[in-house]
Amino acid sequence: MRPLPPGPSGHWLLGSMRELREEPLELYRRTTERYGDVVHVRLLRKRLVMVTNPDDVSHVLKEHARNYTKMTHGVRKLRKLMEGTAVMDGERWRQRRKLINPSFRKDALRDFFPMMRMATQAALSRWRPSAEGAEALDFSHQVSRLTMEIACRAFFGGDGPPGPDVFDAIGVLLDEARVRPYRMVNPPLWFPNRANRAYNRAVGAIGAWAQAAVKEREQRDAPSTDLLSALLRGSSEVAGLTMGELLQELQTFLVAAHDTTANAILWTLYYLSRDSTLRRTVVDEARALDDGPQSPDDLSRLPTLERAFNEALRLKSPAWILPRSPLEDDEIGGYRIPKGCSVYISPYLTHRHPDHWPDAETFDPSRFDQAACAKRHPTAFIPFGAGPRQCVGREFARMEALVVLSLLLSHYRFDVLSREAIRQVPLVTLKPNTFRVRLSPSRPRNTQSLPAHA
Ligand code: HEM
Repeated sequence: MRPLPPGPSGHWLLGSMRELREEPLELYRRTTERYGDVVHVRLLRKRLVMVTNPDDVSHVLKEHARNYTKMTHGVRKLRKLMEGTAVMDGERWRQRRKLINPSFRKDALRDFFPMMRMATQAALSRWRPSAEGAEALDFSHQVSRLTMEIACRAFFGGDGPPGPDVFDAIGVLLDEARVRPYRMVNPPLWFPNRANRAYNRAVGAIGAWAQAAVKEREQRDAPSTDLLSALLRGSSEVAGLTMGELLQELQTFLVAAHDTTANAILWTLYYLSRDSTLRRTVVDEARALDDGPQSPDDLSRLPTLERAFNEALRLKSPAWILPRSPLEDDEIGGYRIPKGCSVYISPYLTHRHPDHWPDAETFDPSRFDQAACAKRHPTAFIPFGAGPRQCVGREFARMEALVVLSLLLSHYRFDVLSREAIRQVPLVTLKPNTFRVRLSPSRPRNTQSLPAHA
């Protein structure tokens, strides 16, 4: 029988549990550096296999995708929180994905562009008083609010953005999703402990808001391609999509869409702030569009910004772990991968693989020049995953990030405050621990052209 992949033996009882809780990314990085491309870490009696080489990543995510379920131990715990496309499997997942795919096709995405532009301009107006008063802004919060508003408008059509209660509620959901997989015991959700009460209140707030949007939509006749319309069609076309499931799906989408994109935008700003030459090129490109991109076609006129965005996604992939579990025993790199164990793919580590990314820690957007991309292994760059479970919102996220960044850069100069103190925190997404920014108007004409905002 083939051996298990190598890895640290760790504590006799806990294995590497303590290191995992304290510094998961550091544990994975150290282990792969020391033991190679396929490694194994023991957590109590559970086995976790890490796979980092692009060929092996392709084996799991593409060639043998059918043998790998997303239902790992950790995800099973999360499933109690939200059950949508991202955490389904088998025929149910296939049907659901078929239902939502058309809302994210390239031609359908074009319809979201004016809304993304308008929501960003409104945010720029909100920031104007702080910019004029040279006040520091908590940009993690500000960018999250913007990406959340864009996600809500995209999924619920023209309906207004949610109030602060819904925004806070999604924060509670994300917090719970972060800690739940690591808790030894999770009491059932009906049990009235503090975490459950906060969680149930949050679900109630999101549910009430989403339900009102659904009702409003059902009464409207106009055909629409947004996600809510697709799901509403699904509730009559696909047996079993109840109102409860529909709300769960929308909830999952809000979580999948806004935090990932917000962090990708923040990390791009972080790297731009460290390189004044690059920043100048990107700002010149953005300003050449005058008042920012006017249509999706204008985004192709921002090549340096797009390369910088890709390079930020490489170094700080918001989705830093993709969990899987084999349904049957498998073999990778000559090692036995036992049925039922957890197999983790980490874009963070694959994006630093020395055979594919020389001088990997250096931020270098030229890695995304066309010629360099053409030569690269197809699964060496996987910020949106790969294979059938690849991110359905990847083009949406790319368009959104380019719209937000180009408008921001053409209207404001920005300084990231205490940049040296910024650390990555691997939560549900890989986020900066803090991100405070001081904006100043780049040209008076530009900020004057923004719509007034209440
Ligand atoms: C920069 C932003 C984003 C990043 C880095 C990202 C990353 C990912 C990754 C890596 C996966 C695959 C997970 C896996 O294989 O286990 C995924 C799946 C998914 N993403 Fe995204 N995502 C982003 C934005 C979005 C947006 C904007 C939406 C919605 C509009 C979205 C919706 C989804 C959904 C529904 C899935 C599950 C797909 C399936 O399992 O069929 N994501 N995302």
